[in-house]
Amino acid sequence: MILLLFGPPGVGKGTQAELLTRHFDCAKFSTGEILREETAIQSELGKKVETYMSSGVLVPDMLIFEIVDGFLTEHQEDNILFDGFPRNLNQAVSLNTSLSRRNLHLNLALEMYLEETEIINRLINRRYCPECGRLYNLVSNPPRDHGICEKCGKILAKRNDDRETVIRKRLQVYHDETAALAKYYQSLNAYQRVHATGSEDDVFNSIVKIINAHNTEKR
Ligand code: AP5
Repeated sequence: MILLLFGPPGVGKGTQAELLTRHFDCAKFSTGEILREETAIQSELGKKVETYMSSGVLVPDMLIFEIVDGFLTEHQEDNILFDGFPRNLNQAVSLNTSLSRRNLHLNLALEMYLEETEIINRLINRRYCPECGRLYNLVSNPPRDHGICEKCGKILAKRNDDRETVIRKRLQVYHDETAALAKYYQSLNAYQRVHATGSEDDVFNSIVKIINAHNTEKR
């Protein structure tokens, strides 16, 4: 199964991608995660993308395509979850072409949506472990020990782009560039949406139901 999750920043894509890759035993591809790893080690790519990311705008497509090509060359299987990629129509069309060239096809593009005030709350309260990447939320999913990762004992960090002005910029970029994917995937008959409200488990259960129903309908 080839699945992609898209939706505004903070809607819970990364959280659900973790749960879904475990549940469906598939490979995960998250451009945001890869780009953050590159900036953390200050690679050539990391240095190039840092300013775009910290100001909340999209990284140029050409840089993204190089990462995607590398991933698809290493992962020939048809069991992949794309998290936060594609981000605009150009990326979506390019992904479709790359998949077709490999005789693969997208099963479902799932849009997660949520009210803006809840999104901002989630992002302002997000913390992550710089060592293992585990996500927390100071309100909905706080660590047992204040500010410390439960898994590896490291001090939790706040993402550079989780400041309110940058969050608002990311939301605007989402509406201007990414939201159009809904129509594109509707035209391919590969689109569903889910309201990302409730607990992480509630959202997960809704998503699994949607995926299973969509796959049954397509058979
Ligand atoms: P990326 O890392 O993809 O960020 P994003 O899309 O803005 O999404 P986030 O990671 O902020 O949020 P999320 O939806 O994953 O939510 P999460 O699960 O963490 O991209 C970052 C930047 O990289 C972009 O701005 C751009 O510059 C660049 N980039 C990346 N991909 C690109 C591409 N393809 N092209 C160009 N540029 C690209 O959850 C958020 C918080 O909510 C957490 O604290 C979590 O614990 C909590 N939470 C989750 N679910 C729930 C729930 N059900 N109830 C309560 N709290 C919850």
